[in-house]
Amino acid sequence: MQPNRLPSAGQATQMLKCMMLCSWALVGAGASRMPEGITGFMQQDAKEQQPINDRPIIGILSQPGDPAPKNMSYIAASYVKWVESAGARVVPIFYDMSEEQVRQRFNVINGLLIPGGGANLSPGHKFYDTANLLVELAIQANDKGDYFPVQGTCLGLETLSIIITRNYTILGHFNALDAAAPLMYTDVARESHFLKSLPKDVCRSLQDQPIAMENHGKGLSLAAVKENKRLDDFFNVISLSVDKSGNPYVSTIEAKEYPIVATQWHPEKNPFEWTASLSIPHSSEAVRMSQEVGNFFIAEARLNMHHSHNLAEEDDLLIYNWHAEYTGRRSYDGEEAAFEQAYFFPPASAASVSSRNSSKSIE
Ligand SMILES: *[C@@H]1O[C@H](CO)[C@@H](O)[C@H](O)[C@H]1NC(C)=O
Ligand SMILES: *[C@@H]1O[C@H](CO)[C@@H](O)[C@H](O)[C@H]1NC(C)=O
Ligand SMILES: *[C@@H]1O[C@H](CO)[C@@H](O)[C@H](O)[C@H]1NC(C)=O
Repeated sequence: MQPNRLPSAGQATQMLKCMMLCSWALVGAGASRMPEGITGFMQQDAKEQQPINDRPIIGILSQPGDPAPKNMSYIAASYVKWVESAGARVVPIFYDMSEEQVRQRFNVINGLLIPGGGANLSPGHKFYDTANLLVELAIQANDKGDYFPVQGTCLGLETLSIIITRNYTILGHFNALDAAAPLMYTDVARESHFLKSLPKDVCRSLQDQPIAMENHGKGLSLAAVKENKRLDDFFNVISLSVDKSGNPYVSTIEAKEYPIVATQWHPEKNPFEWTASLSIPHSSEAVRMSQEVGNFFIAEARLNMHHSHNLAEEDDLLIYNWHAEYTGRRSYDGEEAAFEQAYFFPPASAASVSSRNSSKSIE
């Protein structure tokens, strides 16, 4: 444990409350371990004064494919709104950027969000290669004491599983399209920094109600985790969920030694996506859950001190240089897109010259 990864006194108090009051359902995913170091957390917390970055910026990785027009990539606007409503700004990272451009953006962002979607997860495909580079940079940063959080959502969880194992056939098929589900916490869930940081009522509603929006055809079985030692060594499985055929899959993972959390479920959808053909939970509990998961991720990003050279460079990179399109409007034959709004980006080579400087030349 890096000392700069420790939660604040407030978070530590919150986590103790959560641990005492959440009624964990144990599903026996692996050997039980003693909760090591709750008191350690608090003692160290008093000693360490972690500097806080109150201008956090999150990098969100774009991807090709539907709904992006040919040759373009997209980011669903719900991810951007989710990050923004927790008090951070967004810098898009185009999946087809050069390694140098990716490294440049990594040095400016305080956390990485790998969103859901349908991108190809094999080497030689640019989305996978860029995600792999970013995760390698994140791991190297954390190893050097540069606390850098990563959040993976749906495809993001699948991407992280493959990056960590290099096993391109690790995913299985699940009947979990449009299948919001409760989380069944495992026995290591009580050690989870993520769950312990959430308010206790949010842990409980995630467990008691089907508010985690699941919408995936692929996924990770518990057997695959056990069969792939690197995954088992790297991640704790902190929840399982059950698909429409009754098959359990891994729904939440958290790295043991790194601030990397991934959910097969979509916390950004509850408040921001309204696709009528999907049953996205929009209850007040679901929306509060979404906000608190966002607050967790951005609280982690506030512990990272990356920053741009100057405000002009920051301005050039921010998502504000782009406009979200209204993609969710239903066509007259009832056809419906998956996202209410999305950002579309031209190939990275063209995109990098399109922001501030070119808009100035138009003025
Ligand atoms: C897509 O990019 C390729 C390669 O740059 C180009 O040949 C093709 O014309 C582009 N297609 C569209 C629809 O822009
Ligand atoms: C990849 O994962 C699958 C699913 O657990 C397993 O059956 C297979 O043996 C693994 N392949 C390698 C090369 O480890
Ligand atoms: C804008 O111009 C400045 C100065 O010429 C340059 O340093 C910067 O990289 C440019 N930004 C973009 C996004 O092209």
